[in-house]
Amino acid sequence: MSSGLKVFVLGYTGETGKAVIKQLSRDNSFSNIILIGRRQVDLGDFQIADDSRFSQKVIDFEKVETHTEDFKNCDVGFCCLGTTRGKAGPEHFVRVDKDYVLNSAKVAKEAGCTHFQVVTASTSDKNSSLLYNKVKGEVEEGLKDLHFKRLSIFQPGLLLGNRVERRPMETCFKVVLFPLTKLFPTYSSVHFDILAKAMINNTKKQATGEVEVITNSKIHELSKGEN
Ligand SMILES: NC(=O)c1ccc[n+]([C@@H]2O[C@H](COP(=O)([O-])OP(=O)(O)OC[C@H]3O[C@@H](n4cnc5c(N)ncnc54)[C@H](OP(=O)(O)O)[C@@H]3O)[C@@H](O)[C@H]2O)c1
Repeated sequence: MSSGLKVFVLGYTGETGKAVIKQLSRDNSFSNIILIGRRQVDLGDFQIADDSRFSQKVIDFEKVETHTEDFKNCDVGFCCLGTTRGKAGPEHFVRVDKDYVLNSAKVAKEAGCTHFQVVTASTSDKNSSLLYNKVKGEVEEGLKDLHFKRLSIFQPGLLLGNRVERRPMETCFKVVLFPLTKLFPTYSSVHFDILAKAMINNTKKQATGEVEVITNSKIHELSKGEN
């Protein structure tokens, strides 16, 4: 139990997070998997055997600084947190996609985490006039300022796969981008499972620097063990 990596996963009830924990469950390199979220779930509902390596921690993200103990001494953090402006409204979108991510990262670093892996977006740009792109860019900058020993920023394009929740905007993007995703499958889109595989493979390879930016096409390469 003690020889593998201890990791935490934020956003593990979402589509990317579920793909991450499914793959972690099949990989014995990970000895402790701390699932940190706002609600308790039955892992069986995600077709995951709830083995003794998993523990779920329900926290209040508005007071994440009171939950340091739950983040204690993790080698790697996976952050797949996020909401949408449509679902949460602009203010709460910023609260979740920026503040919750940065505040959790701060707590994790103080609790000993050395490698933080976060999912942002291919369109991240702190100077953008579009809220989504700006928030993703700002979160990347905020994370860089924390100076983790290793920070890996995954910038996927459109995420593909079956989503439990209905998202009309995302469905529109999928329809419009369908020809592009078929012609150039690694250019602007990636399946949740491929993103999860790339995140997991990355924990097993040497860092390329304090900050690694992993673009959509690099995510595809990394998922195959290339790169
Ligand atoms: N959709 C795309 O095409 C796309 C493209 C590029 C990047 N991204 C980014 O990739 C990341 C992962 O995306 P995804 O589609 O896998 O996410 P998702 O399915 O929407 O899951 C989001 C996760 O965040 C949690 N969350 C949301 N609001 C919360 C709140 N107020 N308090 C605590 N937890 C909260 C959710 O918990 P609950 O289950 O409890 O709601 C869930 O675990 C996001 O940052 C997203 O912006 C998405």
